[in-house]
Order: sequence, then structure tokens, then C-alpha cells
Amino acid sequence: MKVVILKNEILNSEERWVQSCINKNISYSVVDLTREKWLEEIQEQKPDLLLAKPSGLTTPFKVLYDERLDILVNQIGIPCFPTLNEIKIYENKKYFSYWLKANNIPHPKTNVFYFEEEAVNFANKQSSFPIVAKTNIGASGSGVVIIENKKELLQYIRGTFQGTGAKKRVGPNLKKGKVINRAFNLMLSPKKIIEKYGVYKARAMDAQRDFVLLQEYISHQYEWRVVRLGDSFFAHKKMLLGNMTSGSLLKDYENPPLELLDFVKKLTDRFNFKSMAVDLFEKSTSEYLVNEMQCIFGQSDGYQMKVDGIIGRYLYLNEKWFFEEGDFNTNESYDLRLESALNYYNVTKG
Ligand SMILES: Nc1ncnc2c1ncn2[C@@H]1O[C@H](COP(=O)(O)OP(=O)(O)O)[C@@H](O)[C@H]1O
Ligand SMILES: [Mg+2]
Repeated sequence: MKVVILKNEILNSEERWVQSCINKNISYSVVDLTREKWLEEIQEQKPDLLLAKPSGLTTPFKVLYDERLDILVNQIGIPCFPTLNEIKIYENKKYFSYWLKANNIPHPKTNVFYFEEEAVNFANKQSSFPIVAKTNIGASGSGVVIIENKKELLQYIRGTFQGTGAKKRVGPNLKKGKVINRAFNLMLSPKKIIEKYGVYKARAMDAQRDFVLLQEYISHQYEWRVVRLGDSFFAHKKMLLGNMTSGSLLKDYENPPLELLDFVKKLTDRFNFKSMAVDLFEKSTSEYLVNEMQCIFGQSDGYQMKVDGIIGRYLYLNEKWFFEEGDFNTNESYDLRLESALNYYNVTKG
């Protein structure tokens, strides 16, 4: 079997997939999807399976990754994991909001305006605050602004269409928990410093001036993060720091309600998604709103869930949820992701 890992524009973006192939003893090669000879290089390899690491840093490279992967999957017919549909909704908040609405998936009500005048009309009619504005791309809360009143909203709209683009944070996330730990890591690894400063520069250059995305404010103390990899499920709470849970790295490993697992199983089954982190607001018991869905996601601890202090996963067997103890999140969960990819396409290694 021939596996090709599709790296993106970011330094070392292939390394977790590479490690997973080494751990499973699978021969692989790496192709940089952002380079001019991408198509020739991939065609030469004749891969049976593509392992994707989509880019979510700037719009040009996000568009590049989606377009080229679409050619590989739909025109050439090479299987890819995560699937193209999982990658299209990744780091594209406007597209994702259309997708949620069209599929009747419960989510915070979202409006996207490409015309300033339309956005201003909406703002003038808006009576309930706060309201949330988000840039299309931007992890860890960097593009999310909680707007408290009409004046601020009008300023945000004007700033987007006529000023320097939609407001966002481009530097390090100083609110982020474990900040000392992270600084220490950076000191130890110069490669990481270069990677980081490259990232901030890229983010600063990628201004969003063409549309605004506004969203209903959902009061919350936490978001649930439910992860599905193959048929393994994990869940934990991401706790609020300031007014955002994203990037806080504050986790609460509490036993998840089984209704939550049911909700995410049904959702991911429906679209055949097998590599997905779903972030949800809990409106009331067993009423959930989908905030984000990410097929590739970071992992700040060595595990994704603990039940009664025990690390493990949930499986759905004989129509029942069943907790299995064990360490299933090695290599930032890429080992399990690779196993899921091989099962998904029913390919055997070797
Ligand atoms: N509709 C909303 N209402 C209230 N708070 C929100 C809303 N959407 C996002 N937030 C807060 O902002 C954080 C970042 O938003 P999110 O959409 O998750 O973007 P990202 O994680 O890509 O930066 C969330 O973790 C949440 O705490
Ligand atoms: Mg988030």
C-alpha cells in the first residue's frame, strides 16, 4: 500500500502523520501540496490513500488546499482522510454556517453580509446585545469579538469594509492558560519560535475586508468538546477564561451525558465523518448547539477524556455506550486517526 501525506505551508505540518506511519510500520512519502509541482509529484507516487493536514492559517492557503484536494479526490479519484467534506467545513466559518443551516443542525443563528449597507441595516434593527462577530479563519478565539452595543457593531462593520479589515488578534494569546509552560517550550525549541513568528506575520497580512459574520450570543460557562475518531468517542469540557473558552486550555474531565454522545454519533454517522472534534454549547440538558467542527485539532494533554479519573474512550456496542479504559490518544491522537483511516477505506497495510 502507498500512502502520501499532504503537508501544508506550515513548517513540520506533516510530522504527526509521519510519526503515525512510523508507529504502524507503513511506508509513506510526503508531498507539499502548496508547491508548484504538487500534481506531478502525487501522480508519480500513485497513492492508494492521501493523509491530509488542511491549512487553517490564512485564506489563500486554505483555498489552495481545498481546491487542490478537490482535484485529487473528485477528478483523479484518490481516497483521502479526513474526507474532503470534513476538510471543506474546516476553518471556514461562513461556509460552515451555510452547511449547518442547510442541514438543519442546531447552531447559534448566524448572518453573513457581503454588502456594508445590508450589514448596517441589520445592525440598526438589532436590539439585543451582546452579539458575536467572527472572522472566517482564526483559531483560539483570535477572530472572535463580543460586541456590547450598536455603536461598537457599526464600528466593527465600518472597520471591516472601509478600514483595516475585521478586528482580530494576531499576536500570542496572553490569556491562554499554561502560559509559563508554553514560554518554556518555546525557549527550548528555536524551530518552534520561527514557526510561531511566521504564523503571526501571516495572520496579520490576511485581512478580511469582504464580509462580516455576525452570530447570536449564547451565554455559557463551558463548551463540550466531543471527539470522534473511527468508532471511538471522547468528551471533555472546555472552560471559560474571560469571555471565551477557545484557547483557554482549561479543561474539565467530567463524565459526559450519554445524550451528548448520542447527539454527536448521530451527526457524524449522518455525514460519514470519522475524524471530527465537535464543539457544542449546552442550551439546556440534552439541548445542544453546534459551534465548531474540526477534522484536525490540537491536543494539549496526553488524553481526550477521563471518566471517574480513568483515561479511556467510549464505544457504542449492541446499542449501548460502553467505556473502555486505555490510552487511545498517543501521538496527539494521530495513531488512532491513522487506524481510522485504514478502516474507513478498508485497506490493509503492507
Ligand atoms: N455565539 C457565541 N456566543 C457566545 N460566545 C461565543 C459564541 N461563539 C463563540 N463564543 C466564544 O468565543 C470562543 C471562540 O469562538 P469559536 O467560534 O470557537 O472560534 P475559534 O475557536 O475558531 O477561535 C468560544 O470558545 C466561545 O467561548
Ligand atoms: Mg473554538
